[in-house]
Amino acid sequence: MVTHSPEETQKYAATFLTDLIQSGMHVVALVGDLGSGKTTFVQGLAQTLHIEHQIVSPTFTLLQQYPIAGHEYFDSLSHLDVYRLNTLDEVFELGIEEIFENKRSLVLIEWADKVREILPDDVCEVAFFVQGNEHEIRCEI
Ligand SMILES: Nc1ncnc2c1ncn2[C@@H]1O[C@H](COP(=O)(O)OP(=O)(O)O)[C@@H](O)[C@H]1O
Ligand SMILES: [Mg+2]
Repeated sequence: MVTHSPEETQKYAATFLTDLIQSGMHVVALVGDLGSGKTTFVQGLAQTLHIEHQIVSPTFTLLQQYPIAGHEYFDSLSHLDVYRLNTLDEVFELGIEEIFENKRSLVLIEWADKVREILPDDVCEVAFFVQGNEHEIRCEI
């Protein structure tokens, strides 16, 4: 999928969410360079789930969790950005294993390639590329 505006990326996120739910997966690995659109995509998912908080990359906190009201499949969105992670211990300290086990939490991990070895087997990978004003989003569900 190639998009030409943040809004288009956010709209695509809504379609993606439908496909994700159908697949039964709840952990999403977001991979791509700085500025490629990972956070924009997360914002689109949050909008679709009627989360009213302003979503920014939780670069300094690693994890932000947002409650989701009245959704059939998800009770919360767990947004991680592991760009500044130094050791895997830091994610274990966050209780990542419990988060992975909770199927009712939609887990979105920016820079997930940094923690690839601890991701569950049924992770959905979404790759982001940018070239000029074209943003490309690739995923296989
Ligand atoms: N088609 C597009 N999709 C996503 N972002 C876009 C697009 N076109 C321009 N942008 C801009 O590119 C930047 C993407 O940043 P961001 O989503 O924070 O990336 P990342 O989280 O991967 O670092 C934003 O400033 C956004 O407004
Ligand atoms: Mg980001």
